Amino acid sequence: MAPPALLSSKWATSLCVLSALSALFTPAVAVKEHDFKKCVQSGFCKRNREFADHALGAGAWQSPYNVQADSASFKDGQLQATVLKTINDQGETVRLPLTVSFLESGTARVTVNEEKRQRGDIELRHDSKARKERYNGAEEWVIVGGLAVDKAAKIAHEDKNQITIQYGPASKFEAVIRFSPFTVDFKRDGKSQIKFNDKGLLNVEHWRRKIEPPPEPEKKEGEEAAPEEAAPEESKKDETPKGEDESTWWDETFGSNTDTKPRGPEAIGLDISFVGYEHVFGIPSHAGPLALKETRGGEGKYTDPYRLYNADVFEYILDSPMTLYGAIPFMQAHRKDSSVGVLWLNAAETWVDITKAKDSKNPLALGVGAKTTTTTHWISESGLLDAFVFLGPTPRDLTQKYGELTGTTAMPQEFAIGYHQCRWNYNSEEDVETVDAKMDKAKMPYDVIWLDIEYTDEKKYFTWDAHSFPHPINMGKVLDNHGRKLVTIIDPHIKNVEYPVDQELKAKELGVKNKEGNLFEGWCWPGSSHWIDGFSPAAREWWASLFKYDKFKGTMENTWIWNDMNEPSVFNGPETTMPKDNLHHENWEHRDVHNIYGMTFHNATHHALQSRKTGEHVRPFVLTRSFFAGSQRIGAMWTGDNQAAWDHLKASIPMLLSQGISGFPFSGADVGGFFGNPEKDLLTRWYQAGAFYPFFRGHAHIDARRREPYLAGEPYSTIIAAALRLRYALLPSWYTAFHQAYVDGTPIIKPMFYTHPSEEEGFDMDDQFFVGNTGLLVKPITDQDRVATDIWIPDNELYYDYFTYQIIPASKGKRVTIDAPLEKVPILMQGGHVFARRDRPRRSSALMRWDDYTLVVTVGRDGKTAEGDLYVDDGETYDFEKGQYVHRRFVLDGAKTITSTDAEGRAPKAAEDGEWLRKFRGVVVDKIVVVGAPASWASKKEVKVEADGKTSTAKMEYTAASGGRAAFAVIKKVGASVAGDWKVVV
Ligand SMILES: *[C@@H]1O[C@H](CO)[C@@H](O)[C@H](O)[C@H]1NC(C)=O
Repeated sequence: MAPPALLSSKWATSLCVLSALSALFTPAVAVKEHDFKKCVQSGFCKRNREFADHALGAGAWQSPYNVQADSASFKDGQLQATVLKTINDQGETVRLPLTVSFLESGTARVTVNEEKRQRGDIELRHDSKARKERYNGAEEWVIVGGLAVDKAAKIAHEDKNQITIQYGPASKFEAVIRFSPFTVDFKRDGKSQIKFNDKGLLNVEHWRRKIEPPPEPEKKEGEEAAPEEAAPEESKKDETPKGEDESTWWDETFGSNTDTKPRGPEAIGLDISFVGYEHVFGIPSHAGPLALKETRGGEGKYTDPYRLYNADVFEYILDSPMTLYGAIPFMQAHRKDSSVGVLWLNAAETWVDITKAKDSKNPLALGVGAKTTTTTHWISESGLLDAFVFLGPTPRDLTQKYGELTGTTAMPQEFAIGYHQCRWNYNSEEDVETVDAKMDKAKMPYDVIWLDIEYTDEKKYFTWDAHSFPHPINMGKVLDNHGRKLVTIIDPHIKNVEYPVDQELKAKELGVKNKEGNLFEGWCWPGSSHWIDGFSPAAREWWASLFKYDKFKGTMENTWIWNDMNEPSVFNGPETTMPKDNLHHENWEHRDVHNIYGMTFHNATHHALQSRKTGEHVRPFVLTRSFFAGSQRIGAMWTGDNQAAWDHLKASIPMLLSQGISGFPFSGADVGGFFGNPEKDLLTRWYQAGAFYPFFRGHAHIDARRREPYLAGEPYSTIIAAALRLRYALLPSWYTAFHQAYVDGTPIIKPMFYTHPSEEEGFDMDDQFFVGNTGLLVKPITDQDRVATDIWIPDNELYYDYFTYQIIPASKGKRVTIDAPLEKVPILMQGGHVFARRDRPRRSSALMRWDDYTLVVTVGRDGKTAEGDLYVDDGETYDFEKGQYVHRRFVLDGAKTITSTDAEGRAPKAAEDGEWLRKFRGVVVDKIVVVGAPASWASKKEVKVEADGKTSTAKMEYTAASGGRAAFAVIKKVGASVAGDWKVVV
């Protein structure tokens, strides 16, 4: 939730006022843009943009960064050198150690620091406890692997001007490091792909001494002010490039908040050019198109850079580069048949400008038409310059290599990918149990019901409101009867009153501190609050203790957690967050770690849930609002406080696609829209779209009318129930897609450029997507009154309508019109796939655990082949890590046989079966539906089934093609174990 509209700048001091305000609040109000900084209001952003304007303006610009002669050395996959920054006309320099590491994965890493000696004797401006070095801890939180250096990397060329390193797979990559000025040119197959400092925008604001202005001369009554005296040369000598705006070097005010800057200016900026690339994607989260826009003005372009500064943005606006709740500084550039990317590893406030320009070189000399190059300008407030460079060439290479570094999606429990029913708030146990019963009555499957902040005793987390929730364990058991779960909210702000949690936080000094080093106090839902410091190991350990079943009474094995407000949201703080001069563990300033804070809290909760009880061995579920690179290892995210409006439904799709290609695919948007009241057709369309979000949750604001899906009335409720069941039927395929994301970082829903990297027309398409490896191509309806839609066909495969089996003949590059009356989600099945379903409707995923499977085979254009896979495990524990899972590969071959083999070529060893696997071996394939069945099958009534060394027969019903509908065959009662090898012979 976001703070009520009126609170962000002037804080009202009583909770009564707070609820009165929230009642007054009108959903039509959009975000107060002026509550959040524009670049021009952010000192370091403004300075770096001005720097860029100067450098790119008329006249000769010479970047003042040069590699010191003879300083470069290369050893064991690493190049070390010193970059000298010339800081004044006298030629004085600042020393910046440079490391370029070449990793075994083919990823390169460029790190620029500032030499400590330079700053050792520089006093902090205030009597501050802040650390006197550039923050270098981001790696510790973000990077989990892939750092082994490539010992095979070697010098290919070296002279007094440059050094060229050859590295990567088959040594096809090169990094050309030029010395004067310092630039790096990353090449693949001899061609430039990514260039650092090509435009000369590298800017490391070195640490310096504050020069106090001369004291104001005393003025006598009636006297004119003395003409300003020129300051003596000496005191000006150091450090000030002419014309630079110094006004925000040492403090900066925004609204009523002043940021004291004990270390002065220390921003870093760098231009990164993607040579010959017209499209860039990534750097979520922003409410805009998947293909990022240019940011320096002009028709249809943004005027501000994309901003990454996790914030509780109240009612965010669409089509905007404004920051949102989470940040992933990973960008990929794409052109026909090539993807490359950059991870900018910096946790401070960051802005990214994007511009595109046609190559001015003679097009004939290039042999092709002029290409567009995208130049990005990255600007961070503090910390190291630390950038990873990925040279692709496929989108899949990027997500894989990025996953090696930052980790992949945690394998969720199966319930977590079912449907979640939430609102602010379910008001009592009775309310929860009534909703639970009504969902059943309406035959609407769901897995989880959620409790927002009102379940607590006056917003004191780890307590229950004794009046509304007197017997939470009973409630938990009622839910558990149908295999359902409860999620309760726990936020990082701890109410500042005498209660054990806050007392312990204070006594053990586990909270975030203010700039004086005392416990920071600010305002959030409970009123005056303290914030746990997720950077502190002791705080995390303490946090874990709070979730033990005997500590957080009322919780049980089916209780899971929602972390909200962890940007962190501080109602009376600058931009609704924490002052930047606050201090964390080991006295790092909040400024340095802001974008990581939410992840440390999410992570602390995740680990706490792993240790609620000794011997418990299940995968936690924690939803987070704030996130950073690496958060995918911990849980799910959602896109925060959207609105019940068609354009917000539409915007959710590019936002989730962006999460997917940026390594954090377990993502969803509030179904129905958080603020406001959706019309019934909007709610219905939103459920149909939500059924294809990786994370699928309905949620509503406290002032919104009740909108549990059974309340919608006919025909809406029936249509919504069908959407929910469609999600549940396809759970086996969703789970398989999640497993792929867990294995190698593959997105769960995939945009066109990702699946079809050669088809330029699809590069900026962000309203249709493929689901996992199923070949399901989905385009949710996001416009009112629309009853048909055009789906772009990316290849020459056959496509079939999911519901009618209507054939879309091979029509690469065409848009085909699909009927989509309110009751229909437009879904096509690409030919050539096999995917799994469970067709029997049940109340929850847990109740489907031992159900039979249906396999759907969509015959490819050749009329005889298809393939696909299925991953299954117990859906709960970590036993899958010890081989307790089923992973099958299904192949239709030669229009004759359908086989199931182990997808990883493992031989079955019954002796190693655990309890789940033993039981699962009894689960069978019931039906096989073959869409586009060969005509040669028309006369067959039976097929042979070979399984377990036995041969049996199964009935087949064949329906001939008619009126554009594909022929299809249904093989019934196959009866072969899903876990075992089998073969069906037609
Ligand atoms: C997550 O928590 C664990 C356990 O406290 C800790 O070891 C790890 O460093 C934390 N990682 C992040 C990203 O916060």
